[in-house]
Amino acid sequence: MTRAPQRPVRLAAPRDAQALAALHARAFDHPWLVTAIADLLAGEGVIGLMAEDSTGPLGFVLARVVAGEAEILTIAVDPNHRRSGLGQALLAAASDLATQQGGEALFLEVSVDNQAALALYEKAGFVRVGLRRGYYTGADGRTVDALVLRRNLNKPL
Ligand SMILES: CC(C)(COP(=O)(O)OP(=O)(O)OC[C@H]1O[C@@H](n2cnc3c(N)ncnc32)[C@H](O)[C@@H]1OP(=O)(O)O)[C@@H](O)C(=O)NCCC(=O)NCCS
Repeated sequence: MTRAPQRPVRLAAPRDAQALAALHARAFDHPWLVTAIADLLAGEGVIGLMAEDSTGPLGFVLARVVAGEAEILTIAVDPNHRRSGLGQALLAAASDLATQQGGEALFLEVSVDNQAALALYEKAGFVRVGLRRGYYTGADGRTVDALVLRRNLNKPL
């Protein structure tokens, strides 16, 4: 299958928070508040990137860089636009920006049962460096372990 041309990724600003919160709610069981996203986007060291079309955001990523370590806070692609390379493009753009801001390694947490995200991160070269037991609580109240993954930022994705 031929992929659609990649949509450009742009910086997200606090004014995008409402639309990003709506997208977040379509992607996760536990939506984030608009104010929480706006505060993060206004925060020092926080990277916010999004892809959009005329209907609004199609995907976004929030990351933070502190003392040489970068962390993905969240990444989400609209369910109707998955498997077209957006997640990978957002991850690559966040990695580039984190590197420019002094990040040497990128960390994230991912549920052990999130097959799509695990496949994305494996393809991007992340390796497992830890396990957090019972880290997530699903919509049904069941707890799920999280893997801690790491990727060196010394080469572009
Ligand atoms: C995880 C997520 C961001 C991936 O976004 P995406 O835009 O669909 O990912 P991409 O199209 O860039 O996929 C890149 C690669 O990741 C892997 N991948 C992504 N989704 C996959 C799936 N459902 N099954 C298997 N592999 C998958 C594939 O290797 C894919 O490359 P390919 O399409 O050439 O085979 C998206 O599924 C999502 O928003 N999920 C809900 C929110 C979430 O779980 N976020 C991560 C929290 S840690």
